[in-house]
Amino acid sequence: MNASLQLPPGAARHGPPAPEALRRHVASLLAACEPGHALPGAFFTDDPLYQADLDYIFGRHWLFIASEPEIPEGGDYRTYQIGPWPIFLLRRDDGSIAAFHNTCRHRGSRILQQDSGIAGATLQCPYHRWSYDLDGKVLGCGATGESPAPQPPLKRVHVKTLAGLIFVCLADEPPADFDDMARRMTPYLAPHALARAKVAKQVDILEHGNWKLTIENNRECFHCAGHPELLCSLFDFFGAVDVERMSAAERANYARFLAASAEVQAIWRRLGLPWQAIEELHGRATAFRTERLVLDGAGESMTPDTRSASSRLLGGLSEARLGTLHYHTQPNAWFHFLSDHVLTFATLPIDRTHTLVRSTWLVHADAEEGRDYDLERLTSVWNATNSQDAHFVAETQRGASSPAYRPGPIAPNEYMVGLFHTWYEERLRAELGL
Ligand code: FES
Ligand SMILES: [Fe+2]
Repeated sequence: MNASLQLPPGAARHGPPAPEALRRHVASLLAACEPGHALPGAFFTDDPLYQADLDYIFGRHWLFIASEPEIPEGGDYRTYQIGPWPIFLLRRDDGSIAAFHNTCRHRGSRILQQDSGIAGATLQCPYHRWSYDLDGKVLGCGATGESPAPQPPLKRVHVKTLAGLIFVCLADEPPADFDDMARRMTPYLAPHALARAKVAKQVDILEHGNWKLTIENNRECFHCAGHPELLCSLFDFFGAVDVERMSAAERANYARFLAASAEVQAIWRRLGLPWQAIEELHGRATAFRTERLVLDGAGESMTPDTRSASSRLLGGLSEARLGTLHYHTQPNAWFHFLSDHVLTFATLPIDRTHTLVRSTWLVHADAEEGRDYDLERLTSVWNATNSQDAHFVAETQRGASSPAYRPGPIAPNEYMVGLFHTWYEERLRAELGL
């Protein structure tokens, strides 16, 4: 990373400036980073930096939190904990989605206390029974009656949807560039009709590592030899490809990749599906990357035999061999949109050394388990991959926490790890006013 980095236009702050002591502390940590190298150990072990991550990264950027089929009906809600902020998402009867801080206006109790459920026409805090309507307005102040004066409504959380994906932002003034990302991503995502899908399975994993290790691990496939199940379908050619230095087996794999690319691009063209990479992983608050990728073998899905997991394809799709539309957003999510299912991954920090990774498999709303899809076949590749990644993250947290650790160089096929570092530095500098 570059300590004298010039902030790009639009890298505005989305809240008040940071305290001077914290600004000096974070500036000294950033100054210790060597460009083109892994992050120093303090980035995974330092408590004040973790607090800064919560306040200035997770507290001020758009976060992927759920997809629309997770709250399909009016009244459905889900609760989340993002750092110190408990929040909830709610589907209203008119189909709209609202998000609120899950903090009662009386003495602060969480109001909705289950992970998910169905709200009635009103919300009631279980502690002293203050009640709210679904716009967050205070309706009553408990059994003892009247409020001394009109009370402010529940504090809202900014929420936006993108082709069935739900993002929230805790900042008072969220980054304005979400709409640009949404405009450009909609043509890629819309054909998969995520809003008309249903959740087939959701799995939470607690990774024993700092959230940045979870994201770094996702941003490269240098380690993909450790994912034998995933490599049945995934070609791991990311970044510069040097054919001269390949083994005979790698060359054969690469030739298969080129042949499959030519065939599948013809299908994408015929169906009018965009596939070109968009890579804007820094230089903006809401940074993202997308690319439609061909898959190996039958090229249909991320299953053990590379064939579709669900015979009921998504939306109006009629062709199974579409590969995967890969999409990821800074700071906390990645996605695979296939012809037969969508996979979403949301990560949230639990504490300095623990990170929640929530994986969700979604299939067509009319697909029936046992008839159209087999849950084990649908989920086995990414369940195995997630558990392997959790191991990589935990071991890196332990090793990089050692006083003996020295950051090593980032390889060309890890370039997206470097771009994540660049974004992270840009955003800390912008939000802390460095
Ligand atoms: S804290 Fe919610 S009603 Fe008292
Ligand atoms: Fe991995």
